[in-house]
Amino acid sequence: MPRNDQKNGPSNAAVRFDLTLNRDRRSGLGEQIRTAITQAIREGRLAPGARMPSCRDLAAQLGVARGTVRNVYDMLADSQLLVAKGAAGTFVTSHPPTVPAAAPRAAVMPPLYDMVYDFDTPAQTFQMGVPASDAFPEKVWSRILQRHARAMIGRTASYADPRGSLALRQELVAYLAMTRGINCQPGQIILTNGYAGALGLICLTMGWRGQQAWLEEPGYLLARKALELIEIETVPIRVDEHGMRVADGLIAAPNASFALVTAGQQSPLGMTLSLERRSELLQWASAQQRWIIEDDYLGELQLAGRAAPALASLDTEGRVFHIGTFSKTLSPTLRLGFVVVPLTLATRFGDIAATLAPASSFVLHNAVAEFMREGHFLRHLRRMKRVYAERLEQMMQALRPHFPHLQLAGLCVVLTLPDGFPDRKLAREALAYGLAPSPLSVWYQRDETRRYGLLLGVTTLPREGFERCAQTLKWLVDKYR
Ligand SMILES: Cc1ncc(COP(=O)(O)O)c(C=O)c1O
Repeated sequence: MPRNDQKNGPSNAAVRFDLTLNRDRRSGLGEQIRTAITQAIREGRLAPGARMPSCRDLAAQLGVARGTVRNVYDMLADSQLLVAKGAAGTFVTSHPPTVPAAAPRAAVMPPLYDMVYDFDTPAQTFQMGVPASDAFPEKVWSRILQRHARAMIGRTASYADPRGSLALRQELVAYLAMTRGINCQPGQIILTNGYAGALGLICLTMGWRGQQAWLEEPGYLLARKALELIEIETVPIRVDEHGMRVADGLIAAPNASFALVTAGQQSPLGMTLSLERRSELLQWASAQQRWIIEDDYLGELQLAGRAAPALASLDTEGRVFHIGTFSKTLSPTLRLGFVVVPLTLATRFGDIAATLAPASSFVLHNAVAEFMREGHFLRHLRRMKRVYAERLEQMMQALRPHFPHLQLAGLCVVLTLPDGFPDRKLAREALAYGLAPSPLSVWYQRDETRRYGLLLGVTTLPREGFERCAQTLKWLVDKYR
């Protein structure tokens, strides 16, 4: 029977196979489930024609997201081991194909299997990093997107500008001047596949392999992972209520080539980099000929007060790369972001984009440009701020009776827990209850600075029944205290 290492699930008469998930193993949960079912079919423990549990049931039994099981079922259907029969359910095929024992397949792990388990799955309560899908202006967006998809069909075939559509870059120039205080020209903007694409383009162009970088401690996990993968030494620099402690950076790694900061709203703790720290950082960069990457992942999307201007707006020496993304303001499914590069480097960035990392489809770019030009984007941002502020209020009301010490941080609320609290374990178990808080401790690189707690995303609250989520969270926290 399926077994979970943390929780015994209800039994299901339809299946007879052993499925024990090991959450500490390096292979992802989906991969473990897929391997177990494949083996059970091949060894006959799951008989031809047997009915599989529904995705919902198996996910609940194993304490994983429903999408994880759905992906596994889809993969097994592709391999002709399972067959989906609509409402009737999913079944083992009547003649499962056999693979010669002598030809085992090497397993291909999904990306970041040890960090992010569930690509392509719907967001759960408290999940951070994804915008509210019910606040998205679907109708107007699909009308505009369809128009540009049709326009592409009628266009003569030619290579588009590898920096991305001029129409969108022009819109961004106006938007960045108005909302982020940045003064730039379209030639300085390269459209990328989100923040990740922009970070990759910068690293590729600047050739920093083997060099050091200052990273906020705590800081964005995937940025650290990215830099480690390309062999940049990440030096954690603590943040306090004013943001990154620049003086610490000068001591810890005086020769670092660049600093990576979330100046607007620190990720994940939410403070804004103070004016004094901004000046220190810019002075260091211009005096030592170093660089700053500004990750402006939330842009002007700030729930309390007005967003501070971008760090890049103070950069008179051309030392700042400013990265923006539409992942939080529109949707991460667009995979759209941009980088504003210093004027002196704009030509080189254009060359690298043209030859090694060209921007993605101009259909999407032109649709976003029109969405901005017609005023939908700013309207959408205003609406999201309102919706999120309401959700925050609702969330605080439900959580405060259980947890008096909560702190707003960007689009999250931080629930601090005592030193050494098993926040990772709790976060994993919470998935079985449809909750996806993020453990704070994993955002730290060093044990000495590590703090424990949960980051609770504000954007993904259910429309109803949130009280129950708050109670479940309280129950889980008490269980591990
Ligand atoms: C700190 C930070 N930067 C950037 C991003 C966005 O990255 P992308 O544009 O690649 O989706 C995120 C998303 O969660 C984030 O938390």
